[in-house]
Amino acid sequence: MKKITFGLMALMISMSALAELPSLKRVGDKWLLHVDGKPFPMLSGHVMNSSSFDLEAMESVWDRMKAFGLNTLICPVSWQAIEPAEGQYDFTLVDGLIRQARERDMKLILPWFGTWKNARSFYVPEYVISDMERFPRMQRKDGQKMEYISTFSTEARDADTRAFAAMMRHIKEVDGDENTVIMVQIQNEVGVLGDSRDHSPMAEAAFAGPVPQELIDYMVSNRDHLKEHLKTIWAVNGYKTAGTWGEVFGNDLHADEIFMAWQYSNHIDRMAAAGKAELNLPMFVNGWLGQKEYSKPGRIPSGGPVARMMDVWKAGAPHIDLNAADIYAYYKLRCENFTRDDNPLFVPEACALWLGDRYSGPAKAFYTIAEAQGIGFAPFGIDHAHYDVDHPLGVAYHTLNNLMPLILEHFGTENLRGFYKAIEEGEPEETETSIEIGPYKFNVSYVPTLEQCYGLIIRTGENEFIFAGNGANIRFKPTNPDEHAGVSIRLVEEGSLDKDGNWVRKRLLGGDETVATYGIKLPPATFGIGHDKNNMIIQRVRLYLHPPAETVQETDTTPEF
Ligand code: DGJ
Repeated sequence: MKKITFGLMALMISMSALAELPSLKRVGDKWLLHVDGKPFPMLSGHVMNSSSFDLEAMESVWDRMKAFGLNTLICPVSWQAIEPAEGQYDFTLVDGLIRQARERDMKLILPWFGTWKNARSFYVPEYVISDMERFPRMQRKDGQKMEYISTFSTEARDADTRAFAAMMRHIKEVDGDENTVIMVQIQNEVGVLGDSRDHSPMAEAAFAGPVPQELIDYMVSNRDHLKEHLKTIWAVNGYKTAGTWGEVFGNDLHADEIFMAWQYSNHIDRMAAAGKAELNLPMFVNGWLGQKEYSKPGRIPSGGPVARMMDVWKAGAPHIDLNAADIYAYYKLRCENFTRDDNPLFVPEACALWLGDRYSGPAKAFYTIAEAQGIGFAPFGIDHAHYDVDHPLGVAYHTLNNLMPLILEHFGTENLRGFYKAIEEGEPEETETSIEIGPYKFNVSYVPTLEQCYGLIIRTGENEFIFAGNGANIRFKPTNPDEHAGVSIRLVEEGSLDKDGNWVRKRLLGGDETVATYGIKLPPATFGIGHDKNNMIIQRVRLYLHPPAETVQETDTTPEF
């Protein structure tokens, strides 16, 4: 009897361990998604908008993605597909995607295209789109009705919420113990396009009414660390703690944007709360950020979860775990703007194929995981033929996968760093990036003839470092030249981690495959030729510091041959 009790207890403990839901946890000074209780950085990709609706075609997409080294695929599902007639739900799509992910031992993120997808109401069921009375639309300032469903349509909000909650209930039934679905996105890049706010009669009445107390309370208690944009608008209007939207934020497009952010975040928060009551998965929203550093609300969706509206969204949608960044310009700056103690960085869309950005994925993946230390990265349109077997994203993801035990060991600390040469407009044109880790300084110089130059550094011991990347040379210097006259190499190895995370040396490197005694090459290409974008080699390097002024380090001028 006693034995059975212990056996049962052990079974219950192991079952509850299995059933631990994906969640976001603090790791060092950053965050990581945890799946089955273990950290799970997402090396991901986002399929094109209509791809997941063809399950048959998705079979080969999943195979390609697995071979590419992805551990997660982002596949949209839509309200339209799931509710073919009012109150009737069909989860064939969700079930198919879950099965396909499981068959490849991969994970799935589901963006819910509901009332709004890129501002528009394109993905709503037919009974919703055709009934403009029951589901009222937004209105422009000039009185013209817009196609988009108004945030003041409580019918739309409730119907969307019912369908979304039904999907979460279904996922719990079919996947509650397996955690194939690890995160859910609600709506997609919401906001008003073509005007800075809704001017329908309901919206006008709300705009003339008081700013809700929850928003005021949030701003008062977070006054010192509000995003600068919101803080300035509030300050310019006299830090009022009561009044209409116009009185508190001014009667202009800034107030309009804040007003809309509040309305959208409220709609989405209700959905998140109802969805989480069924299955408490991490949920997020994503923002359309625009190609300029600042785009006017209305030119980009007004009220959407852009960085400057982060505080309004935090106050208005407390059930949303994070505001994700769809970054198609200003990559480094936007990674920074979306990283906050209360907002883990996640990039579910990047690399605008349609703007000709074809090869920046590997550099941005390294940067997001190693330098910005985000929870995941995903190029958009990953199933496009462009991402074929030769695309360097494959070697980049395989390298990150191989180094994952070390990345996780040092995540959330300054022992993990990444870099890349400016790729797009708005990024500082650096010929060299300087990174300091403890007493060591790494001067990264980029191969001028290559567009994609990037890499990472992990400090694995007091004087030991791992390097991987492509298109860069790294010279070693002391952080403090008064303390140390120089830095030289003790040993350079090429290798990788085995399945237990132990370093396995493949060969020793030296001579032409390093930069004399004071630097390395990524990859270690002889005479600098062979910087093939698919040539990704992991190097482990041991260094030593010279005592002050005792030895003269070799100067790094190129000798004549
Ligand atoms: C951003 C959207 O979020 C995606 O769904 C997709 O439409 C891309 N733009 C590309 O157009």
